[in-house]
Amino acid sequence: MHSFQTVSDIRIEPGGAAKLDYYVDGLCRNKRVAIVTDKGVRALGLLDAGVESLRAAGYQTFVFDKVVADPPEAVVLKGAVAIRKFNPGLIIGFGGGSPMDTAKVIAHLCGCDQPLESLYGVGQAKGPSLPLMLIPTTAGTGSEVTNVAIITTGETAKKGIVADSLYADRVLLDAALTFGLPKSITASTGIDAMVHAIEAYTSIREKNPISDALALTALRKLRGAIVTACESPDNVEARGDMLIGAMLAGQAFSNAPCAAVHALAYPLGGFFHVPHGLSNALVMTGVMDYNLPKADHWYAEIARDMGVGQTGVSLIDEMQRIKDATHVPQTLAAVDIPEDAIPMMAKDAMTKDRLLMNNAREMTFDATVKIYEGIAS
Ligand SMILES: NC(=O)c1ccc[n+]([C@@H]2O[C@H](COP(=O)([O-])OP(=O)(O)OC[C@H]3O[C@@H](n4cnc5c(N)ncnc54)[C@H](O)[C@@H]3O)[C@@H](O)[C@H]2O)c1
Ligand SMILES: [Fe+2]
Repeated sequence: MHSFQTVSDIRIEPGGAAKLDYYVDGLCRNKRVAIVTDKGVRALGLLDAGVESLRAAGYQTFVFDKVVADPPEAVVLKGAVAIRKFNPGLIIGFGGGSPMDTAKVIAHLCGCDQPLESLYGVGQAKGPSLPLMLIPTTAGTGSEVTNVAIITTGETAKKGIVADSLYADRVLLDAALTFGLPKSITASTGIDAMVHAIEAYTSIREKNPISDALALTALRKLRGAIVTACESPDNVEARGDMLIGAMLAGQAFSNAPCAAVHALAYPLGGFFHVPHGLSNALVMTGVMDYNLPKADHWYAEIARDMGVGQTGVSLIDEMQRIKDATHVPQTLAAVDIPEDAIPMMAKDAMTKDRLLMNNAREMTFDATVKIYEGIAS
C-alpha cells in the first residue's frame, strides 16, 4: 500500500512575488498578513515590492524578520507571540528553509493551543493551524512542499516536527528571488536538494512510485542546472530548473523520507553551525559508498536516468564531480570541525532514528565514525 500527499495549490511565475496581493487571494479572511523571514532576505529587498502590493490592496502587514539559520525554539516562540498579537488571517513564510520552517510552526502555534514541546516527532502536530503560504528564496530544502519543520532545541540538538497539518495551503515559486543567491549557497542548497531526491529514491520503508518519478525528474533538472546556476547566477532557465527541481525533490522526500546522509549531517549543523546543505554535501558520498552494497541497483537506475553511467558507482562519481565543480568544502577541517569531535557527532547521529530507519543499509556507530574519519582532513 502506498499513499502520497503534497501541497494542492502551487503557483509558478518568475517575478510573481512582486504581486503578492494577487497571489494571496482567497487565503486571508481579515486582510491582515504576517510575513516570517530573516534579516538577510529582508535586507536584500526581496520582500519590498510584494509588501507594497499588499498595502496598496488594503492589507495590513506585519513582518517578523528575526529568524536565524537552523531556527532555535526561542525564535519560534518569540515569533508566535508577536504574530498572535497581530492577529493575522494568513502567515507567509518567505526565505530559505529556516524562515519557511519557522512559519510552519508559528502558523500551527497561532491556530491551536498545542504547546511547542508536544509537536516533535511524527504525527504529533494536529492543528488546526492558520492559513499558510510559503515562498522559497533558496533552491534546496523543498520545505515549501514538505510536512516537516526542523527546529533547534536546547543548544545543539535539531528535532523534526513531521505532520500533515504542516502542509502549506499555497506555494509560490518565483525563480527571480534566487538570482542573488551567492555561489556557495546555490551549490550547497542545490546539493541538499539532490540528496533529498537520492534518499527518497532509496528510502526503504516508504519508497513509492510517485516519489520515484518526482525524484528522477528532480535529479535530471538539478544536475543539468547546478553548475550553470553557480557560474551564471542570473540565468533564468537554470534558476527555474533549480527551484522546480528542489520542489520536486521536496515532494518526493515528504512521502519517502530522508535517511543516513541527513542523520550524519545534522550533528555538523547542531554542534558546529555548518549550514544544512553543506553538512549534507560533506557526508553525502561517504554515506553513499557505505550504502552501495544495498542500494547499488537503485543508484544504477538513477545514474541511467541521468545519463551519467550504468552502475551505482557512476552516480557516486557524478555527485563527486558536482562537489568538485561547485567548489564546496570537502573536509571537516575546512569547516573548522576538529577530528576529536567525531565520536560525539557519531553518537548524536545514531539518535536520529526517524531518518536512520529509512536507510538502505543499516547504519552503525562504527560505520558513522569511519565516514566522518574519511572526510576529517
Ligand atoms: N522542512 C524541511 O522539509 C527541511 C528540509 C531540509 C532542510 N530544512 C531546514 O532548512 C534550514 C536550511 O534552509 P536553507 O538551506 O534554505 O537556508 P536558510 O534558510 O538557513 O538561509 C541561509 C542563508 O541564505 C540567505 N538567503 C536566503 N535566500 C537568499 C537569496 N535569495 N539571496 C541571498 N541570500 C539568501 C539567508 O538570509 C541566510 O543567511 C535548516 O534549518 C534545515 O534543517 C528543512
Ligand atoms: Fe535537507
